Amino acid sequence: MKKQIVLLPGDGIGREIMESAKEVLQVIAEEFDHTFIFHEHAIGGAAIDAYGEPLPEETLKASEHADAILLGAVGGPKWDDQPVHNRPEQGLLKIRKSLGLFANLRPIKIIPALTHASPLKEDIVSGSDILIIRELTGGLYFGKPSERRNNGNSVVDTLSYERYEMERIIEKAFETAMTRQKHLTSVDKANVLESSRMWREIVDMKSNEYPEVTVEHVLVDAAAMKLITNPAHFDTIVTENLFGDILSDEASVIPGSLGLLPSASVREDGVGLYEPIHGSAPDIAGKGIANPLGMILSAAFMLRNSFGLDAEANEIERAVNEALEQGYHTADLQVKDGTLVSTKEMTELVVENLSTRSISD
Ligand code: NAD
Ligand code: IPM
Ligand code: MN
Repeated sequence: MKKQIVLLPGDGIGREIMESAKEVLQVIAEEFDHTFIFHEHAIGGAAIDAYGEPLPEETLKASEHADAILLGAVGGPKWDDQPVHNRPEQGLLKIRKSLGLFANLRPIKIIPALTHASPLKEDIVSGSDILIIRELTGGLYFGKPSERRNNGNSVVDTLSYERYEMERIIEKAFETAMTRQKHLTSVDKANVLESSRMWREIVDMKSNEYPEVTVEHVLVDAAAMKLITNPAHFDTIVTENLFGDILSDEASVIPGSLGLLPSASVREDGVGLYEPIHGSAPDIAGKGIANPLGMILSAAFMLRNSFGLDAEANEIERAVNEALEQGYHTADLQVKDGTLVSTKEMTELVVENLSTRSISD
């Protein structure tokens, strides 16, 4: 199989972990006889430095023509005084919006080797397997520029959704729940927000088309609490943009680190952008200690979801699990009696575990 993959390393640890994903993909290409052609482009702060804007035209064009996109992370203190519309994060929001990537899938699954590495009690997290489906191109993040203002004394951000934007993400959630445990939790703030009331009404209407799916509505504040007191309760969660952003970072404490979680941002035709859920981690950038596994698992997610390469994706996941079972971990994980390794060492361990397969098979 021949695929054109756009790589957008971005800023901070994004650049370090992208190297890891690329190396893993190269090994997979050799082992399984694929050709992955990488096209690297600038986004975020790196693009502001080189082109004066966080999403240059050529990056967007290349991404539109790619078979899939891998993204590291954007942002950092260097660009803190940029006007809001030209911050690194705007590059990320614009590429999601321009490509119509309205559905962000964020799986959170406990890795057996890491059950004791969670700051939560082992019996609480064990067996957790959650998929957060986050609406990605609407809501507060995309308030109309004409309505956004700050005159020094008053400030306005607007939260608006079109009905079709809610319908398509909720449809995606029911479809996805059907492939999982058929338990859908819709998270909103319907006791306060008009948008949540429409959201709830659409969820209830859609549920008639999916009688096998059990549906519950949970208010976002209670959901935040329940997510870490009883994570095993959840199967598929669907929610709007900002709630999904916050709940997914919170959920990363279940497996033990933000550095472990991959994500896919997709639209109806399956075209996707794959990225870890964490940011550019300025506090550890350049030290070579970032956890590359969220990024590597995002590459596996891409192989499965955009290219249908299940065996290859399974291989990567197996190699990652093996490295963790062997007790290796980066500094973000508290592993009992484990061996602390760097970003590069963790990547090599995963690569070695992949290569072991070709020798033994
Ligand atoms: P962050 O996710 O970058 O970091 C939060 C904490 O988690 C930090 O202590 C960091 O060291 C740690 N961490 C994150 N990823 C890690 C990894 N792979 N390995 C080890 N530790 C890891 O969030 P932040 O500090 O609030 O934001 C920093 C910058 O990143 C901001 O500019 C923000 O806008 C941006 N950001 C970008 C994305 C993205 O590009 N998708 C996502 C979130 C935040
Ligand atoms: C994420 C990030 C982004 C978001 C920021 C950087 C705009 O936090 O991908 O989770 O809020 O969507
Ligand atoms: Mn986030």
